[in-house]
Amino acid sequence: MEEERIVTSVELPEDDEENIRPSHLDDYIGQHDVKENLRVYIKAAKMRDESLDHVLLYGPPGLGKTTLAYIIANELGTNIKTASGPSIEKAGDLAAILSSLEPGDVLFIDEIHRMPRYIEEILYPAMEDFTLDIVIGGEGNSKSIKINLPPFTLVGATTRAGDLSAPLRDRFGIIAKLQYYTEEELDQIIKRTSRVLGMPIEEDASLELARRSRGTPRIANRLFKRVRDFALVDGKDVISIDNTKMALDRLKIDDKGLDDTDHQLLLAIIKKFNGGPVGIESIASAIGEEVTTIEDVYEPYLLQHGFIKRTSRGRMVTPIAYEHLKIEYQNTIF
Ligand SMILES: Nc1ncnc2c1ncn2[C@@H]1O[C@H](COP(=O)(O)OP(=O)(O)OP(=O)(O)O)[C@@H](O)[C@H]1O
Ligand SMILES: [Mg+2]
Repeated sequence: MEEERIVTSVELPEDDEENIRPSHLDDYIGQHDVKENLRVYIKAAKMRDESLDHVLLYGPPGLGKTTLAYIIANELGTNIKTASGPSIEKAGDLAAILSSLEPGDVLFIDEIHRMPRYIEEILYPAMEDFTLDIVIGGEGNSKSIKINLPPFTLVGATTRAGDLSAPLRDRFGIIAKLQYYTEEELDQIIKRTSRVLGMPIEEDASLELARRSRGTPRIANRLFKRVRDFALVDGKDVISIDNTKMALDRLKIDDKGLDDTDHQLLLAIIKKFNGGPVGIESIASAIGEEVTTIEDVYEPYLLQHGFIKRTSRGRMVTPIAYEHLKIEYQNTIF
């Protein structure tokens, strides 16, 4: 069996996902500012009886972008249609989705930064004036026709806002950056998941999980399920701190929430590149990961917690990382 990975960039189908996922703003833990602003905008849109302005959600994987898109539709009391950037290949694909919308509906486009540029261009008038300009006919006798669309709300999600073209980004009235969650918030999320799944967890065990979840609800929920398995097999009906520690050790999640790949990444910079600075491509090939995976999944957390830093000449490991890995720090600046 391939080793199970807790930290991944892909949104795997997970059991109980529908039950665990909060469906109202009130159940959505953390992201206080984003949540409270959205609450106002949604209420105002409903009072005006207009569609909500287009919303762009960005931030690292697993922080709750998809969840929030569904909540927005739910709070608006409208339907949600979903698509993902790379899957919209032809103008006709987008036209089909757009013309199936009903007034006020939410169109959720995940990984919107991976949408082809010519599709983006069709989206501009759709977002701006709710019209679709399409070209019909072939060479010589083609003509452009305008189709009116119902007012709708585009909710775009991306892990890399920087990859979005400026004209697309400018067409979103509401831009929200999701932040890593605090331990207290993750603790609340774990307790909520524990209630939903009907498996109690002791206070210290929940806090331990929260500490080791990399600030990420998806990881917290994944870890919870694995720890639950250990408790179950151990014949327990409450998850204890011992179950938790043992499960996390087996999954090779350390006390800062770093996993095997994080360790490999830090060790590669230290051992193969003298602590850096080193380019991201070199790191990627040293540990056999994609550059984008490192940039989107691993690096943001390592940067945020000061294990690495970015310099103009590449990535460097910091003394914090040396200390964490228990490797003697050698100041190699010459
Ligand atoms: N604020 C929150 N409160 C409670 N649970 C949350 C919250 N945000 C996310 N979750 C849980 O975390 C899991 C991951 O969230 P979600 O799928 O929305 O992340 P995402 O940002 O869309 O990730 P990706 O970038 O990989 O698509 C979901 O199962 C959801 O139940
Ligand atoms: Mg998602």
